[in-house]
Amino acid sequence: MSSDQTIFNSVPKFTYKEPVPEINSEEFEKVVRSRRSVRVFKDTPIPEDIVNKCLDLALIAPNSSNLQPWEFYWVRNKEKKQQLVKACFSQPAAETAQELFVVVARTKTWKRHARQMLDLFHSQSTAPPKAVFHYYKKIVPMVYSLGFLNILGFLKSIAFSVIGLFRPVPREPVNKSELKLWAVKSTALACENLMLAFRAYGYDTCPMEGYDSKRIKKLLELPKDATVVMTISAGVRDDKGVYGQQIRFSKNQFVKEVNT
Ligand SMILES: Cc1cc2nc3c(=O)[nH]c(=O)nc-3n(C[C@H](O)[C@H](O)[C@H](O)COP(=O)(O)O)c2cc1C
Repeated sequence: MSSDQTIFNSVPKFTYKEPVPEINSEEFEKVVRSRRSVRVFKDTPIPEDIVNKCLDLALIAPNSSNLQPWEFYWVRNKEKKQQLVKACFSQPAAETAQELFVVVARTKTWKRHARQMLDLFHSQSTAPPKAVFHYYKKIVPMVYSLGFLNILGFLKSIAFSVIGLFRPVPREPVNKSELKLWAVKSTALACENLMLAFRAYGYDTCPMEGYDSKRIKKLLELPKDATVVMTISAGVRDDKGVYGQQIRFSKNQFVKEVNT
């Protein structure tokens, strides 16, 4: 295990340099602060290329082990969209939306995606360090496999509890719900990227979990390991689309400085 942890605590001797653009923080703050949950949209369409740009930005959200456990269903078919609106309890945010997305977290795509990562590394002229190959070949399967009837997950939880008495160990995921949580975390970050992207392009969104997930899964023929994380509506904000001022409780209720 100690060699397995090298990926976390060693800095690779890379020559790669990511360009860092100048950022206008005021514009960023404007985007974040003007994002509101909009429940009524105008009849104005969103150009297809803007939707695609926003989806591109959603897909570059940070995600666990870069295993990208998300899927975005952009429901464009008229009948399916109507059924989706119904499954969202015909909320105005869904009913008046120009575009509707169902954002899904998957717990069974990590294996395929780990293989894709390895294939990608193999095809690159400058291969990443060995530890990275080792990570996707050995560590990822060890961390995310639960085995038949969760047997492996159970054994892992016992092993980690014992080893964990002596040194830090990864405690999760060791069961289905923890694996689901793992996938949902990354997917929710992508949802936020999508909503902020629409705002940056002058459009608005409403995240929704007021829906019948079973009906949505049936409508989109989603596989068993899919969790509907949220549906997101998008469009041009109507004047009466925001129901009231943004309310947040005081900062010190949520931000805890740890000084002692
Ligand atoms: C996961 C999630 C589910 C939500 N579900 C709904 C929903 O079903 N219908 C709705 O009108 N708003 C929904 N909202 C929007 C929240 O009510 C809203 O974010 C919150 O009241 C704060 O308002 P703001 O987004 O304008 O800051 C949801 C938000 C999130 C993050």
